[in-house]
Amino acid sequence: MPAPEKTFYLTTPIYYVNDAPHIGHAYTTVAGDFLTRWHRQKGESVWYLTGTDEHGQKVMRTAEANNTPPQEWCDRLVESAWKPVWRDLEIANDDFIRTTESRHTERVQKFLTGLMEKGFIYEGNYEGPYCVGCEEFKLPGDLDEGKCKIHSKPVEMVKETNWFFKLSAFVKPLLDHYKSNPDACQPDSARNEVVAFLEGGVSDLSISRSTFDWGIKVPWDTKQVVYVWFDALLNYATAVGLTDPSDSEGGKMFAKTWPADVHLVGKDILRFHAVIWPAMLMAAGIPVPKKVFAHGWLLVGGEKMSKSKLTGIAPSDITSHFGVDAFRYYFMRAIPFGSDGSFSWEDMSARYTSELANDFGNLASRLTAMIEKYCDGVLPARAESSDLASSLSKTVSQADNAICKLDFQGGINAIMDFCKEVNGYVTIKEPWVVAKDPTRKAELDAILYNTAESLRALAILLHPIMPISTKKLWGYLGADKTLGALGEQKISEVAKWAQLHPGTKISKGEILFPRLEEKQEI
Ligand code: ME8
Ligand code: MG
Repeated sequence: MPAPEKTFYLTTPIYYVNDAPHIGHAYTTVAGDFLTRWHRQKGESVWYLTGTDEHGQKVMRTAEANNTPPQEWCDRLVESAWKPVWRDLEIANDDFIRTTESRHTERVQKFLTGLMEKGFIYEGNYEGPYCVGCEEFKLPGDLDEGKCKIHSKPVEMVKETNWFFKLSAFVKPLLDHYKSNPDACQPDSARNEVVAFLEGGVSDLSISRSTFDWGIKVPWDTKQVVYVWFDALLNYATAVGLTDPSDSEGGKMFAKTWPADVHLVGKDILRFHAVIWPAMLMAAGIPVPKKVFAHGWLLVGGEKMSKSKLTGIAPSDITSHFGVDAFRYYFMRAIPFGSDGSFSWEDMSARYTSELANDFGNLASRLTAMIEKYCDGVLPARAESSDLASSLSKTVSQADNAICKLDFQGGINAIMDFCKEVNGYVTIKEPWVVAKDPTRKAELDAILYNTAESLRALAILLHPIMPISTKKLWGYLGADKTLGALGEQKISEVAKWAQLHPGTKISKGEILFPRLEEKQEI
């Protein structure tokens, strides 16, 4: 039997449910959605996972502070805050994992038992500083006057007898791995940081806690719960059937999806993903992920925007004014993926107006209005070739190369440059002048048909980043009836010219990106 096609498997971090999502979480999740939608339109089998991290002291203490049992707190936040935000942002995830689900807890226990049997776990004493905000044991260099550098809060001293994972045994294999697979940790700056960290030496890791009980029980020592990060990292594999027998549903899913193609994370949690996680997998004899990509931070006042510092902006604060598509577009377009960036109301307004309302939205309005006016609302005859067709081919390959490398800004720029070129084409060809001369009817038809074809291509190429407005445009072009659903259109076919069917009714629908009302600062 031929091996089943490997699925393109992408994950986001699973977020702590100590509060509702802010735009930092949305940043990662939108990026993952953009990339997975792009791969789906390449015709690949795709699996996109997100979810929530529910165990540990951080979540437990928040639940306590709200006088709510932790499970009830998690259920409430997941249903009332996390899932609805992803729905509102048009996130098309295939699965949503919660670390309190039995499919996760049972597989974590099996995995742990496996590591124990292989001799990678031993009992020891831990003493040292711990930051509950990070859920991380800290090294002296991680502290600033006794405070965690990320949370600016004092760390707590932990002294316990715990179970330890032999992390130190994997320094050499990890260094070899990153040296021979530079792509496995990106961008390069992130990999350099990880390599330097590994070269500095790494101690074994305490992977259980005994002073509280909100976690997965250590199977052979039920007075201890599994360290929340050890539990959380495993979600990527438990969600797709880790430890299930190979002939079971879970085992088949695992064979199709693993190793993950991309773990998208913020740079705050790079070490967990590029050091601890692959070491856990190496210990178990499971292939490591193909790529960990650490993106930058959204900053507020020069610092990482965060829930704990109360600088988090809710996605709805922005989408209520600009709409969901503009939100998704802005962050991917404005900030090079991998670098830090600040959200600025002015920059977003400026890009909305020039790139979305003027360049893209207005092109759609102009075309549909002209077809209504000059062609009774019906798409004219095919124009077989155009300079636009060859630019489009270049655009598609540029965009595809960039996006598959996670250069989202570069990919979107390539597409928007094509959009500008089409606007330039309309301006130079002056269809409104040509329309006055009945002997130039064929010329007019060609201009309008070429513009409509360009919009067909733009609708497909921009669909992964702006699913709502592109769907509207697809409807205005009457393409859903002749070419099928927008999400089914393949990137590899976009540049084939003259696909729209002449004679199709074109409708002049609502404006895609309406002019912004004046709005106060948020
Ligand atoms: O760390 N800018 O969860 P978390 C950009 N549960 N991205 C940001 C951001 C910002 N200012 N703030 C948050 C955890 N993020 C663990 C993860 S995974 C096995 C366990 C995004 O709720 C970014 O992706 O603190 C960051 O890595 C993640 O949210 C941290 O979310
Ligand atoms: Mg955090």
